[in-house]
Amino acid sequence: MTVKLCPVTQENWRAVAHLEVAEDQRQFVAPNSYSLAEAAYEPGLTPMAIYADETLVGFAMFTHEPFQGEWPFTQTPYQGELGIVRLMVDKHSQRRGYGRQAVQALIDHMSQLPGGQALLVNFISTNLGARQLYESVGFVVYEEDASGCWARLTQPSSGETSAPSHTRSS
Ligand SMILES: CC(C)(COP(=O)(O)OP(=O)(O)OC[C@H]1O[C@@H](n2cnc3c(N)ncnc32)[C@H](O)[C@@H]1OP(=O)(O)O)[C@@H](O)C(=O)NCCC(=O)NCCS
Repeated sequence: MTVKLCPVTQENWRAVAHLEVAEDQRQFVAPNSYSLAEAAYEPGLTPMAIYADETLVGFAMFTHEPFQGEWPFTQTPYQGELGIVRLMVDKHSQRRGYGRQAVQALIDHMSQLPGGQALLVNFISTNLGARQLYESVGFVVYEEDASGCWARLTQPSSGETSAPSHTRSS
């Protein structure tokens, strides 16, 4: 079984929009329909469909531009890194390893992009599944408060990690 990232297209966007997490996970991720709208109107976002062989199992979205400034959709200063801003696996396809393989595919792809020497991700503090998943592939939580956790993976292509070079301003 191969997990791969594929473009969201005219053919698959409706199926992507219909993917769902479990009810108690809805607090952790925006609906895919919202994320697709965000990708259409916010600059620098790439939405991707996650397939296990030929079956659509999930959705991810990442930033592909290391612009300097601040992401409009977070409060963390953005200093050249790229970020995984959405990740979900449909409730019927979870706990089969697809999420971890999708994150690894994201790391492989993003590390080839300008700014991809460091990747950020944000998740709600109570989302232990996401935390375990990201830590298992090398992300290190560097900031945690009531609003959530920030984790960073540096030099992802070499698998090394280090502390962040910046802190959050708000
Ligand atoms: C987080 C999510 C993408 C994981 O997808 P998945 O395909 O089920 O993950 P995997 O099967 O690859 O699991 C990888 C690891 O994540 C952790 N994990 C995943 N789901 C978990 C859960 N419900 N509880 C605890 N740990 C969990 C485990 O450490 C697991 O490793 P293991 O199976 O060896 O124990 C999926 O649960 C999901 O869509 N959740 C709702 C949305 C969300 O939280 N997105 C992340 C926001 S940043």
